[in-house]
Amino acid sequence: MQFSIKAGTPEKNRSDCVVAGVWDGRHLTDAAQRIDRAARGGLSAILKHGDLEGRLGSTLLLHGVAGVAAPRVLLVGLGKPADLGPKQYREAVRAAVRALADSGATDAVAYLAEIAIKGRDRAWAVQQAVSVAADTTYRFDQLKSKKDNRRKFARFAVGLTDRASATDQRALARGDGLAQGMALAKDLGNLPSNICTPSYLARQAHALAREHGLKCQILDEKAMDRLGMGALLAVTKGTREPAKLIVLQYQGAPRAGRPVVLVGKGITFDTGGISLKPSAEMDEMKYDMSGAGSVLGTLKAVAAMKLPVNVVGIIPTCENMPGGNATKPGDIVTSMSGQTIEILNTDAEGRLILCDALTYAERFDPVAVIDIATLTGACVIALGHVATGLYSNDDALARELIEAGQAAWDRAWPMPLWDDYNEQIKSPFADIANIGGRPGGSVTAACFLAKFAGKFKWAHLDIAGTAWRSGKEKGSTARPVPMLTQFLIERAGQR
Ligand code: BES
Ligand code: MN
Ligand code: ZN
Repeated sequence: MQFSIKAGTPEKNRSDCVVAGVWDGRHLTDAAQRIDRAARGGLSAILKHGDLEGRLGSTLLLHGVAGVAAPRVLLVGLGKPADLGPKQYREAVRAAVRALADSGATDAVAYLAEIAIKGRDRAWAVQQAVSVAADTTYRFDQLKSKKDNRRKFARFAVGLTDRASATDQRALARGDGLAQGMALAKDLGNLPSNICTPSYLARQAHALAREHGLKCQILDEKAMDRLGMGALLAVTKGTREPAKLIVLQYQGAPRAGRPVVLVGKGITFDTGGISLKPSAEMDEMKYDMSGAGSVLGTLKAVAAMKLPVNVVGIIPTCENMPGGNATKPGDIVTSMSGQTIEILNTDAEGRLILCDALTYAERFDPVAVIDIATLTGACVIALGHVATGLYSNDDALARELIEAGQAAWDRAWPMPLWDDYNEQIKSPFADIANIGGRPGGSVTAACFLAKFAGKFKWAHLDIAGTAWRSGKEKGSTARPVPMLTQFLIERAGQR
C-alpha cells in the first residue's frame, strides 16, 4: 500500500473515494460539513433517512454525491466526541479501511486525522491512520496457488484541510516505516516451519542487512559450541535442522554510542521435545519464533526511519523436536555463563536459548537489553491477549517501555521479579532448574532469565498472548514491533 498526505478541501479531491466522519446523533465533522455544503445539504438529507446514526465503526458508502469531485463518499461513524480516545480512533480507521477494501476504489483520501482524539495530537493520528490501514489490509496469500486478481485498494491518503507540516510528513513516514517492519514480522510469523527454518531466518536477516546497510553475522553450531552455549545447543539436539545465532547491527547514531540490544526467541517450531506437547493446535507453535520476527521487524522499521540510534539484534534460533539424540528430562547442561541447568522439562526451551543469547549480549556493552519471547502459556492465563507481560530489573526502563506501548497502542503491563519466586527454580543437582511448577509460570520463567541478565539494564517481554491471533482470524499481529519502534524513537531523542 502506498501512503501520502493530501492537503486541500474534501469535496474537491479527485480520489476514488473520500472518507469523512459522522458523530453519534448524525452530527457532521468539519470535513463532512464541507462535503454537505458542496452537495447543498445532500449529505444531511441522506442521513435523515436513518442509514447512519454515527455509531462507532459503522459505515455508509455513497455514490455520485452531487457537488463532490470524487465518485464515492464513505461516511464513518465515530460515536460520541467525548468518548473518542486512541482505541476508538483506531476502530474508526479500521472500519473505514475495511469498507474501502470491499468497495471498488483503488485509492482514497480519509479526513479522519483532524478530529479531536483524547490525549493525542494530529501527528499521532496521521501515523496511526497509516499503520492501522496497513495492518487492516495485510494478507498472507503468498502460498495460495491462485492469486486474488480483483481490483485492489492500493493507495491511501491522509486528508488534511490545511497545509501539511513537517511534523505531519514525519508522522506519515513513521507510519509507513512501522508498517513495513510489521509486515515483515507478520510474514515471518505466518510462514510455516517447513519454510521458515533457522536457516531461512538467517537468510532473511542477511537480506535485511543488505537492503539497509546493517552488519550481519551468522554463528553456526560449531561457533556456538566454542562459545560454550550448552543451553542453546541442548534445545537443538533433537532436530536435523541446523541452529543459528543471528547477530544484526544497525548503526544509526553518528558516534558509536552504546547500543540497545534486542534479543528475540526464534524457535521455528516448538513440539515440546521429549516433553511432547498435546497435538491440539500444535500448528500454532510455528509462531514460537515471533520474538525473532519482532526483532527483524523492528530493525526494518528503525532502518526505514533512519533513526539516529544504535541497535543490535540477537536471534537464537532452532527447532525444538524429539529425536534419538534429543535432550531428556533430568539432563544437566552448562550455559555460556557457566551456570548449570537441570532441564526438567524440554518444553521450557525458550529460556534455554535466550539465556545464552543474553550472555552473548554482554559483549556489546549495551545501554539496555530487551528480550522478546513467546515464553509461557501462563502469561496468556495472566494477561490474556491484551497486554504483553513486562518484567525488568530497572524501573526507569520498565516505565519507558510501558509509555512507549501506551503511545503506540501496543501495550504491556508490569509483572514482578521478586526474589521469593526463585525458590521455585531451585534444583538439587544443578545451579538452577528450567521450570518452577504451575504457580506463577510466567514469573518463574522471567526469574530464570534474570539470572543471566545481571550485568546490564534488562527487560523481558512475554508475548505469548499477543504475538498472534487464533481461530478464524489466525495470523501474526507483529506485536510488539510498534512498542519497540516507539521506544527507539524516544531513545533517539526524536519525540
Ligand atoms: N512456546 C511455549 C509457550 C507458549 C505456549 C506460548 C502456548 C503460546 C502459547 C513455551 O516454549 C512452552 O512450551 N512453555 C511451557 C513452559 C512449561 C513447560 C514450564 C508452557 O507454557 O507450558
Ligand atoms: Mn516449549
Ligand atoms: Zn516455546
